[in-house]
Amino acid sequence: MAAKVLVLNGPNLNMLGSREPDVYGPQTLADIEALCHARGEALGLGVDFRQSNTEGELVGWIQGADDDDAAGLILNAGAYTHTSIAILDALRAAPLAIIEVHLSNIFQREEYRRHSYVSEAANGVICGFGGHGYVLALEALAQILEKKGGGN
Ligand code: DQA
Repeated sequence: MAAKVLVLNGPNLNMLGSREPDVYGPQTLADIEALCHARGEALGLGVDFRQSNTEGELVGWIQGADDDDAAGLILNAGAYTHTSIAILDALRAAPLAIIEVHLSNIFQREEYRRHSYVSEAANGVICGFGGHGYVLALEALAQILEKKGGGN
């Protein structure tokens, strides 16, 4: 059975395509989801792709990831990256490989975007590559899961 990867997207990422395209690029979230399914299939990973504008819903999905049989998590928490200790606590309690993704290079932007709570719980961070960052994150997860022997 293919290992399952949860790809979670936080607030305002549903607006991609029309939201600040000079910063986030022209791709919609549906475009990025399609990229993830295609690359996931090639890597032998099932992809469960979700978006929420609500902190509590993201926390609930992270808490449920193990019961959902997810082996890995890719998270672009949007602005909650820089504010949410609740998401950090949920990530710390989750027995999963975690890759943090940002479309933009958060280190090149405003000072308040340079700190990430998510990074404290992530195996690694990919930022600045637009939607392709999700593909890179899937590749990183595939390697981590292969080393761990796959599965949950
Ligand atoms: C983002 C960067 C965050 O600072 C911002 O709040 C977002 C998107 C990114 O993907 O570049 O919503 O996570």
